[in-house]
Amino acid sequence: RQYQPLSGKRVLVTAGPTIESIDAVRYFTNHSSGKMGYAIAESARDLGASVTLVSGPVTLEKPHGITVKDVTTAEEMYNTVLNDYDEQDIVVKAAAVADYKPVEQVENKMKKQSGPLSIEMKRTRDILQALGERKTKQYLVGFAAETDEPLVYGRDKMARKHLDAIVVNDISRDEQGFKTDTNAVDVLTAQERHETIPLQSKEAVAKQLWSILLEEM
Ligand code: PMT
Repeated sequence: RQYQPLSGKRVLVTAGPTIESIDAVRYFTNHSSGKMGYAIAESARDLGASVTLVSGPVTLEKPHGITVKDVTTAEEMYNTVLNDYDEQDIVVKAAAVADYKPVEQVENKMKKQSGPLSIEMKRTRDILQALGERKTKQYLVGFAAETDEPLVYGRDKMARKHLDAIVVNDISRDEQGFKTDTNAVDVLTAQERHETIPLQSKEAVAKQLWSILLEEM
């Protein structure tokens, strides 16, 4: 029997992008494939956790032995995660949630007009911020996808959002970050630990991440 240090623990992982509609056919989204979040969820399952995966729209197969909750928008992800939060022991937020959505969503298809088009956007609610504020027993892990000074912004995000740890993903480098099968990240903890996980498959990154988190919890 495999080593199961997360046995008896409830783990919630978010993965994938969100989609914010403009009209009946157009939308805003990002390049997240869900691979990183799914690997983290599957690794937690293999370590014995009872796992809930809140997933934006992705083309990955549903992993067995995991409760998958499909969502589309940032608002739906917010509601689903907040609703399940109280019973969780650990939350890992690998999803790439939209920071903005159109102020108005048009029900039908918008007609083309001559000249440029402006779409007014407003901020979505910050899920991680809300989780940090409502934290009771949960060990809360955020992600930071950054291009400039990743560690500086990552550390700042961890403090501002009351996180226990943050996974900093420098997305300016090849073969890591969005869509790729591989990744390389830095893990920072509130106890000021700093670990670098070098470039390897997202599955291997997920395993190393759990071994670091398990030492910290
Ligand atoms: O899905 P893949 O193709 O495998 O790619 C993996 C990844 C690059 C998406 C992943 O490794 C990653 O970095 N995820 C976080 C992406 C992101 O949106 O980062 P951010 O710095 O914009 O957001 C910071 C944190 O706040 C994230 O934990 C995010 O889930 C959270 N957030 C953001 C906005 C919002 N409204 N609510 C949130 O909770």
